[in-house]
Amino acid sequence: MSKITIAIDGFSSTGKSTVAKQLAKYLGYVYVDTGAMYRAVSFYAMENGLISGEDFNIEALIYQLPKIEISFKFNKSEGFAEVYLNGINIEKRIRTLEVSGFVSKVAAISEVRQKLVEQQQEMGKNGGVVMDGRDIGTVVFPKADLKIFMTASAETRAKRRYDELINRGDQVKYVDVLKNVQERDYLDSNREDSPLVKAEDAIEINNSNMTLDEQFDKVLNLAKITL
Ligand code: C5P
Repeated sequence: MSKITIAIDGFSSTGKSTVAKQLAKYLGYVYVDTGAMYRAVSFYAMENGLISGEDFNIEALIYQLPKIEISFKFNKSEGFAEVYLNGINIEKRIRTLEVSGFVSKVAAISEVRQKLVEQQQEMGKNGGVVMDGRDIGTVVFPKADLKIFMTASAETRAKRRYDELINRGDQVKYVDVLKNVQERDYLDSNREDSPLVKAEDAIEINNSNMTLDEQFDKVLNLAKITL
């Protein structure tokens, strides 16, 4: 059976990565979390003093891009690939509200996108991949065999992200998480380079009122029809 390419795009915290991981595991495919790559570049900028207060030294980040090496390594006990920045596992450190508050600015820089999109295309060139992000079905793999576009209300998404952060021990307020989700929706949808839009041939799934099992069944059925 041929190995297809599955693109899952959508707004922040729509549960894309949860369903993408489940699907990749079920099909024996590789899962690629492209959001983690933009978060890794943001983390690099924060760690290397390229941001202070409202000032963000974009030129310096562009200049240093060749020094940023992002890779993934499968973690058997977690059951998915974790992200590494220049050989160091940063999987947990990129999921903070601080990184979330900054990442959409980094993701709007064309030079950053060009570098990461090239790497994503290389990772998925042989098919057998489930990739989630914002521009997978429109820019990275416009010819993907199956394109899914996930949506849910901002409040539902913020509640999910809030629960996730609280469960891992982060001290956050729901209003701040909601504000971040709404800001990222706006920035991601309105940037000039590769804005978040539903590809014409993508199938939209609004999972506001779906359980995780219902969501997985729906996506798996779509994959089975496509295979
Ligand atoms: O998916 P996640 O919420 O981790 O993505 C973090 C941010 O990375 C998004 O809000 C968006 O700004 C950026 N992103 C992007 N293109 C992608 C994946 C993520 O611009 N393909």
